[in-house]
Amino acid sequence: MAQPTTLEIAGRKVSVPTGLFINGEFVAGKAGKTFTSEDPGTGKTLATVCEGMPEDVDLAVAAARKAYENESWSAGNPADRSALLHKLADLMEANKDDIVALECADTGKTYKQCSNLDFPGSVGTLRYYAGWADKVLGQSSFNVPGTFSYTQRQPIGVCGQIIPWNFPLLMFIWKICPAVATGCTVVIKSAETTPLTALYCANLIKEADFPPGVINLVSGFGKTVGSAIAHHMDIDKVAFTGSTVTGRSVLRASADSNLKKVTLELGGKSPNIIFPDADLEEAVEWSAWGINMNFGQTCHAGTRIYVHEDIYDKFLDLYTARMKKVTVGNPSTGEYDQGPQNSKLQYDKILGYIKAGTDEGAKVHLGGNAVGSGKDGYFIEPTIFTDVKPDMKIMREEIFGPVVAVSKFNSEEQVVAAANKTTYGLAAGIFTKDYERAVRVTSRLRAGTAWVNMYNFVHWSMPFGGYKESGIGRECGEVALENYTEVKTVYLNMGIKSPS
Ligand code: NAI
Ligand code: MG
Repeated sequence: MAQPTTLEIAGRKVSVPTGLFINGEFVAGKAGKTFTSEDPGTGKTLATVCEGMPEDVDLAVAAARKAYENESWSAGNPADRSALLHKLADLMEANKDDIVALECADTGKTYKQCSNLDFPGSVGTLRYYAGWADKVLGQSSFNVPGTFSYTQRQPIGVCGQIIPWNFPLLMFIWKICPAVATGCTVVIKSAETTPLTALYCANLIKEADFPPGVINLVSGFGKTVGSAIAHHMDIDKVAFTGSTVTGRSVLRASADSNLKKVTLELGGKSPNIIFPDADLEEAVEWSAWGINMNFGQTCHAGTRIYVHEDIYDKFLDLYTARMKKVTVGNPSTGEYDQGPQNSKLQYDKILGYIKAGTDEGAKVHLGGNAVGSGKDGYFIEPTIFTDVKPDMKIMREEIFGPVVAVSKFNSEEQVVAAANKTTYGLAAGIFTKDYERAVRVTSRLRAGTAWVNMYNFVHWSMPFGGYKESGIGRECGEVALENYTEVKTVYLNMGIKSPS
């Protein structure tokens, strides 16, 4: 069963491996199971792939452990690891059209977003961490009397990584890069609705000649493969991106097993604040992008828009007109701004939130309905709520769909308090021409990323992660390397006598 399959996507033939990728080979799962991934734009099956089980995770971990223990990898020449990351980037660039087509069909993303953001973001991340491989250094100290001391940063070991379905390609790359750069090895699980680009990249990893076992990919479900990774006794660190509920269970699993180090990148309910001196046209355009990016299925989506009362009516008119222009349709049949939501589950969940909003007394100002029957693709109208109250479900919980709430504020003090009144703390944005205010307000917002006069902008060279229940730790940038290294202190005696 572990044979590649050839898919026809928008007239293009794309060959994808279907096996689990363990120790450098594509293999069937031990239980011989398979599962299907669908195209959410049609609701039809796209591909059938091998399904991993906990015993496959054991095999993958054993392969990763063996690869890690080979010192030519974990203590080898970092230039070799750098070259591998560059090689993978080269191969991805050579196969961009396949990768973009596959990602769009498996997720429902638009070609425009995938080719202009997800794909270059992935290649950029690879090349950025390729540059870090030989720059991970310790410190030396003559400050401890009688010793010469230094620290050594060693790769943490076997890393379990669990990724979501909203950015399957980008999250795959974000996760493996700092691990490979530092000399760790990886057992990664893709999300069950979007396994295909990770499989495609695993093939490129093989072609790039990564040593067997350095990266292992086990496709499958959360309760089996994900949980096995989180509980594994021979995994040293786990990195998870997904819902806060599942993030908690990953942290619990670490506590219940071997106290593996945990980093979590979880949900958000990010505020977007429009001050009266903002360039309104720009604010409208960026606020539209704040929710249109990936149709709201973005952890840092700008879902709570706060507009100063002096410009509220004007902003709402312009914003509504802008959102009315958003075209919704299947990306493989034409150019649309918004594709389908990723799965039936997600679609039902979003429609459930829209109902909860109206039930609690919020007003649907725009949209609020499904597009089509939901039988052949999971499309939802861009939706704006007004008349919202802070304690409403739609103001507290992550909807992960094309749904925003617009409300009014009258002072900086009031809006900062309202913006921070959330259990999340992933991102926040403000629109103002007053840069003193920008510095003051961003500093007071309890969020891991703050934008001024822009929204939904993330770069691989800068840290990304959440305050509060939006997560633990940071990805991207130099800081992410810390998650993948242990620090060892070495003291060399320069003449101290034993106290005995
Ligand atoms: P999820 O958090 O359950 O799934 C994310 C990943 O975790 C998937 O690979 C899944 O298979 C895995 N997983 C599930 N249960 C697991 C377990 N017990 N142990 C280990 N791994 C497990 O998210 P789901 O159900 O797909 O989406 C639900 C909501 O989560 C969304 O509506 C959205 O609000 C939020 N979400 C947030 C994301 C983010 O980027 N922060 C990404 C995906 C979802
Ligand atoms: Mg799919």
